[in-house]
Amino acid sequence: MLRRYARAHPRASLPTRMPDLPYKDFYYPLNVFTHMILHEEGRVDDLHYGLFAPGETSMLAAQRRSTELLLSRLPAPPARLLEVGLGLGTTLVRLTDLGYDVVGITPDAAQIGVVRSRHGDRVRMECVRFENFDAAERFDCIFFQESSQYIGSEALFARSAALLRENGRVVVLDEFALKPVTHAGALHALSGFLDAASANAFRLVEEMSLSEEAAPTVDWFMQRIPAWRERLIAELALQPSQVDELLTSGQTYVASYRDGTYGYRLLVFER
Ligand SMILES: C[S@@+](CC[C@H](N)C(=O)[O-])C[C@H]1O[C@@H](n2cnc3c(N)ncnc32)[C@H](O)[C@@H]1O
Repeated sequence: MLRRYARAHPRASLPTRMPDLPYKDFYYPLNVFTHMILHEEGRVDDLHYGLFAPGETSMLAAQRRSTELLLSRLPAPPARLLEVGLGLGTTLVRLTDLGYDVVGITPDAAQIGVVRSRHGDRVRMECVRFENFDAAERFDCIFFQESSQYIGSEALFARSAALLRENGRVVVLDEFALKPVTHAGALHALSGFLDAASANAFRLVEEMSLSEEAAPTVDWFMQRIPAWRERLIAELALQPSQVDELLTSGQTYVASYRDGTYGYRLLVFER
């Protein structure tokens, strides 16, 4: 759901009278989700799904739980890490402060600008697609917190193999298609993702299903978008049809999570 229209509608421009929103140039619909989380929760730290405990309603708490899980699968500091898809830079600054030798990348210059204004020069970042990224020194671990869905599976593992040290690790938190899906913009098939890992000599050392915990994220947005309709149109200059598309896409996601077509996974690979 967090990526649904990113390719179809690269930027949603804002009316000139709007106060400057630092995330206004994020790819649609990441700008929508950033805007909604900020105003519903009072702050926004992350652009990934939450992992909700039963009865929980706080998106921030659920998102933090996801990051804690991710951090528990990383090698200990001062390991050398690559964060692919740095979002708002919250995890990047945290890992930097924990003593990791960490670099974050994103192809979106608007995200780099927001992270720079939030965290100054404390973090190391590059504005580049993973497919084109290279570094002089190899990494101990590369992690993808909801960025793997934007990258072809074969390219992801081939590039990771080239960038990792021997015995390096890849950690992924993301959603996948668990059953065949043919429509445009469908998620990566988990089977194809695992095949690409094997083809590049990665061993799957952990697979944890988190579908039940992640699915309430879509419900959270779907429950709120109707009340946000006019604000999204006025404040983010969305077309009414874009709000409709968001609701239609959200319904597909809700149904797909419910019938097991889509699922959410933590995956850890070693080489
Ligand atoms: C859903 S957001 C998740 C952001 C962050 N990891 C988080 O958890 O809050 C997806 C991230 O992947 C990045 N991304 C998209 N395509 C990418 C690519 N080809 N290479 C690297 N990052 C990419 C986006 O710019 C964004 O930072």
